[in-house]
Amino acid sequence: MLKKRFDMIIFFCLCSISGVFGVDEVKSVSVTEGESVTLDITKTQKGDLTWRFGQILIATFNTQNNERKYYSDSADGIFRGRLELDQTGSLIITNTTTQHTGLYGVYSWNNNNISTFSLTVYAHLPVPVISRDPSQCSSSSSSSSSSSQQNCSVLCSLVNVSDVNVSWYKGNSLLSSISVSDLSFSLSLPLEVEYQDKNTYSCVINNPIRNQTNLLDITQLCHTCAEPLHCCGFTEAVIRLVLSALVGVTAVAVLFYDIRSRRLQQKKSLQTSQSHTD
Ligand SMILES: *[C@@H]1O[C@H](CO)[C@@H](O)[C@H](O)[C@H]1NC(C)=O
Ligand SMILES: *[C@@H]1O[C@H](CO)[C@@H](O)[C@H](O)[C@H]1NC(C)=O
Ligand SMILES: *[C@@H]1O[C@H](CO)[C@@H](O)[C@H](O)[C@H]1NC(C)=O
Ligand SMILES: *[C@@H]1O[C@H](CO)[C@@H](O)[C@H](O)[C@H]1NC(C)=O
Ligand SMILES: *[C@@H]1O[C@H](CO)[C@@H](O)[C@H](O)[C@H]1NC(C)=O
Ligand SMILES: *[C@@H]1O[C@H](CO)[C@@H](O)[C@H](O)[C@H]1NC(C)=O
Repeated sequence: MLKKRFDMIIFFCLCSISGVFGVDEVKSVSVTEGESVTLDITKTQKGDLTWRFGQILIATFNTQNNERKYYSDSADGIFRGRLELDQTGSLIITNTTTQHTGLYGVYSWNNNNISTFSLTVYAHLPVPVISRDPSQCSSSSSSSSSSSQQNCSVLCSLVNVSDVNVSWYKGNSLLSSISVSDLSFSLSLPLEVEYQDKNTYSCVINNPIRNQTNLLDITQLCHTCAEPLHCCGFTEAVIRLVLSALVGVTAVAVLFYDIRSRRLQQKKSLQTSQSHTD
């Protein structure tokens, strides 16, 4: 009890000390690429303001005459055409890219540190792709064994993702999850379900600010084991198309030939009958 109170006193002391000396925390801001973000300095300032990305000068603002300067060629030009300063001197970055991730500082004319922002720009989350596990599919023939009749193996797959978690949910409960920190060109999270299962399964990919979901359709996906979905789907379709086209053409040709030969026969018989009457 006493200790708790003591802790609280220390806590308040620390807070007021930091208030007095203006040691603000770094403000964290997160957006998805393509969005705009405002780094808001809240308090109005006097004199010149300077914005830096890390140590690199990117913009200045004169609070007296509202004169704005943007340094478009700095930082390899990643801010070209994307910076705006509003009437308070807050910095707006439009159409953000992941390259804009980093620390931003705004400084007063005498180089006082006014505010620091830690901006994280997340890449777009792709929609996870759910497919039949092709290895499971080919190993078990579509008819015989009973286990393959009951169960269906599926994969939730993603390409080119980093800093995400990929998870399978059954209804609202988490079944399995993997965490991807480095850029992963291709990853798959497997799941085994029974054919008759009526639960809702979903694959969810999320980063700290967004998520994307895809629902598993067991009836659609699990009743096509005989035809491997991955390797041969397209080639097979093409072969089928060509074959059916050939069959069609042949049928038409036969029909034409048939008609022509009948006509010829008719003509002949007509001629013979005519020659008879002559
Ligand atoms: C500015 O202040 C923040 C804390 O408010 C600190 O993290 C940052 O390092 C400071 N920047 C400079 C250049 O002093
Ligand atoms: C946003 O930036 C991308 C390149 O990062 C560009 O292709 C696109 O045209 C820009 N969009 C707008 C609305 O400026
Ligand atoms: C994945 O990233 C690589 C390299 O950045 C790129 O060449 C490839 O086209 C990307 N693939 C997809 C499906 O976006
Ligand atoms: C079928 O899948 C269920 C989970 O959905 C699992 O408990 C069971 O062991 C599997 N059966 C076979 C034969 O693999
Ligand atoms: C992924 O999950 C772990 C454990 O639940 C969590 O600590 C981490 O913050 C998550 N990462 C993302 C990108 O959501
Ligand atoms: C996905 O995001 C929505 C809000 O955008 C949230 O309501 C939902 O709970 C999230 N789902 C998961 C599985 O994190």
